[in-house]
Amino acid sequence: MTFEKKWWQTAVAYQIYPRSYQDSDGDGIGDIKGITSRLDYLEKLGITAIWLRPVYASPMDDNGYDISDYEDIASIFGDMAAMDELLAEADKHGIKIIMDLVVNHTSDEHAWFVEAKKSKDNDFRDYYVWRDQPNNLTSAFSGSAWELDEASGQYYLHLFSKKQPDLNWENEKVRQAVYDMMNFWIDKGVGGFRMDVIDLIGKEPEKLITADGPTLHPLIQELNEKTFGAYDLVTVGETWSANPENAQLYSHPDRKEFSMIFQFEHVGLDQQEGKEKWDLAPLDPARLHNVLSKWQTELVGKGWNSLFWNNHDLPRAISRFGDDRPAFRELSGKMLAIYLHFMSGTPYIYQGEEIGMINTPITDINQADDVETHRMYAERIENGFTKEELITSIKAKGRDNARRPMQWTGAEGAGFSTGQAWLAFGDTVRDINVEKALADKQSLFYTYQKLIALRKEYPCMSEGIYEVMETGNSSVMAYRKY
Ligand code: GLC
Repeated sequence: MTFEKKWWQTAVAYQIYPRSYQDSDGDGIGDIKGITSRLDYLEKLGITAIWLRPVYASPMDDNGYDISDYEDIASIFGDMAAMDELLAEADKHGIKIIMDLVVNHTSDEHAWFVEAKKSKDNDFRDYYVWRDQPNNLTSAFSGSAWELDEASGQYYLHLFSKKQPDLNWENEKVRQAVYDMMNFWIDKGVGGFRMDVIDLIGKEPEKLITADGPTLHPLIQELNEKTFGAYDLVTVGETWSANPENAQLYSHPDRKEFSMIFQFEHVGLDQQEGKEKWDLAPLDPARLHNVLSKWQTELVGKGWNSLFWNNHDLPRAISRFGDDRPAFRELSGKMLAIYLHFMSGTPYIYQGEEIGMINTPITDINQADDVETHRMYAERIENGFTKEELITSIKAKGRDNARRPMQWTGAEGAGFSTGQAWLAFGDTVRDINVEKALADKQSLFYTYQKLIALRKEYPCMSEGIYEVMETGNSSVMAYRKY
């Protein structure tokens, strides 16, 4: 079975981490105008959609995944006029903007939570999840998922940081407010939504159920019906809990949920079984190939895959799956690009991947910025881990690796900013930058450009038949696609 062809099935998307892409005003922080100024570059690469990491108003406890006003733009990134300009200019370049939307939780500085905290009988109290006593639920950022609100003596739920209170999706008013807000963005002409940690919205905290709760799929179906369902938009759910069976529930077109989901099975292979990402284990290429092949074959005709090696939460692809030493960096980057882009689904390139940016080692926790890294470090030091082993884990898996500023040139400031960059550059700026990549016709950039162009020409790349090739060598990952 093939589905009715949609624009996003042959598209290649490009993820932008606005804070680190291009600064236009010298404050050291990337912004929306900066992104607009790079649309020519993106058109040259050939991508037709941008996944724009959150730019909404936010106190930035979790770099914008803590939204305090969904219909306003964080001043560090610009304003609504800059956003409207980006939408209009991107359109002229044939590029759609996919908004990253966080509706599992808000910021504790969102007006709803500010109200909710005022008293137990406030109209907004039920917008969030409250309990008289905490239970054993833990936050993804370490520690209890419950925070005491001293004024009322109750605890509120936060599956991420305590500045990210979880919304109560059982409350119809919450759902309506979310739909209204999404329709506001649809009316502005966005190309779709990336729905942050969306597999958590059907949670049942009393039963310690977070991902994949019983109301999850009905909630997504209602979301589809009330917002994007009637439009030709792309939607991608971030679902850490997905497996090939429930991926079909999310992405089979008859079910009217999402276009596709991000599944993460292949990024859990270099950690110890049953432990956390910081507990490193060597990556076995045969297992990686098996997992990705399974997703290829099991979703055929039943759903749609997203394809990615890295994003703003994950290490750089070459450092993780390839070999980032200078002699192998570009080669392994090309291998990874070709391997992924011939697979069925929609590929997502993470900014800088197309020029082969790599991880940046740190030597001390003070060099880390990310909230997740800091919380993990503090907790594990308390639990007896050594500084050395934690720094090794952070070098391999810390989220700052992906978040360092984009390397446009080899000059001071890397063409990113005329000011002091908010996060230190990688130490490879001189060797790895866009200017250099564009000047060399053999560079990784042109491999990506070619792959993106081929996808537009050959439908068998985005949805052909996938067959694993047996090579007799477990370190060769090979498949046939036609
Ligand atoms: C998602 C985002 C991540 C964020 C978290 C909480 O996993 O990708 O960056 O910290 O959700 O919103």
